[in-house]
Amino acid sequence: MLFPVTYRVNTAGHMEVGGCDLVELARRHGTPLYVYDEATVRQRASEYVAAMGSAGQVLYSAKAFASPRFLRIVEEEGLGLDVVSAGELNLALKSGSKRDHIHFLGNNKSREDLEAAYRAGATIVIDGAYEFELLRDIVPDGKRTPVMLRISPGVKPDTHAHISTGQLDSKFGFSIESGAAFKAVSEALQHPRLEVVGLHSHIGSQIFALSAYEQAMDIMLDLVVRLRDELKYEPRKLGAGGGLGIAYTRDDDPPTPRQFVETIRHALETGCARRHLKVPELVVEPGRSIAGPAGMALYTVGSIKDIPGVRRYVAVDGGMGDNIRPRCHRGSCRGRLLPRDGEQLQRHAATRGAHGGRRPRHRDAAPRNVRRLDRRRSLLGPRRPRRPRSISTSWR
Ligand SMILES: Cc1ncc(COP(=O)(O)O)c(C=O)c1O
Repeated sequence: MLFPVTYRVNTAGHMEVGGCDLVELARRHGTPLYVYDEATVRQRASEYVAAMGSAGQVLYSAKAFASPRFLRIVEEEGLGLDVVSAGELNLALKSGSKRDHIHFLGNNKSREDLEAAYRAGATIVIDGAYEFELLRDIVPDGKRTPVMLRISPGVKPDTHAHISTGQLDSKFGFSIESGAAFKAVSEALQHPRLEVVGLHSHIGSQIFALSAYEQAMDIMLDLVVRLRDELKYEPRKLGAGGGLGIAYTRDDDPPTPRQFVETIRHALETGCARRHLKVPELVVEPGRSIAGPAGMALYTVGSIKDIPGVRRYVAVDGGMGDNIRPRCHRGSCRGRLLPRDGEQLQRHAATRGAHGGRRPRHRDAAPRNVRRLDRRRSLLGPRRPRRPRSISTSWR
């Protein structure tokens, strides 16, 4: 799914999403402008919830995009929330999220973050041993706060290194491989202020090969066997994280939310049966795969520079400040040029952001009312294929 489900070209030849003409929206609100399609958010969210059924809980990872209205929509669809700051928590509470449906994550939570999470009644996902000390201070005598422990299963999914988080060399969580995970669970179980409701993992983002989740689940369940046998502890909840990839170009063909949940559920249920474990409640926390397919970023074209026989540069009023992914993760995405006041777009252009440096770059595709642009190759002859290093689009 490259564009939101309500995307169409209207009779004026303009792109439309959710019944709103994008040229009009850009005029009215200015650009850069992020536009989210409610129907797509609801469709993606409800697919997750339906696939999960009574097996567990789906949280929306608010870091993917958070606004009061957006969070209300995912809440209405039956999702809980994963938040990573007191600010996101505040937004979640104002948007009406149920307190016991909020999980507070993060590898560097401040005292203020933990105090806010405790006051809100959120489940705190402990990421490092220093949180044990802080929580000893924050949670009053005689009380216990619900926590999960973030475990690093040592799996490296097939994604960009910057968004791979489950391997040994990661700033996140307690590693199984190093023995830190077993030690942390044993410490947490003896902690007077904690109620250890479960274990959590998140192996990375923009993942297409679901086998990485099966692998991670197997490793997590092996840990659970050890915890059961040696500490008499079996988690009530088991978190498998988020990370399902999405299509940024027509060449991307990610699994669906249903396939994601069903694969993990199957790995959990069969893995527990094989090990004679009680099946814990499954928790998944997708972000990008709910917000991404629903979202578009609108920019306005400004300066245009022609280098005859080489390239046409088209500058837009945005850049890596509002679209960091191409720069950080060598991502590509599909762009389209909207006609301005009826003008025809030119034959071939590379779009640049407003920030310094050479990137991000877009090569934009034209909507149907605009003449199809020739592929660069047809103007310049064949060229050596390069790894995508920027926002780039094809003309197909
Ligand atoms: C702990 C955790 N959970 C969930 C997510 C959501 O991942 P995604 O947006 O790729 O689904 C992230 C993303 O960084 C994360 O760090």
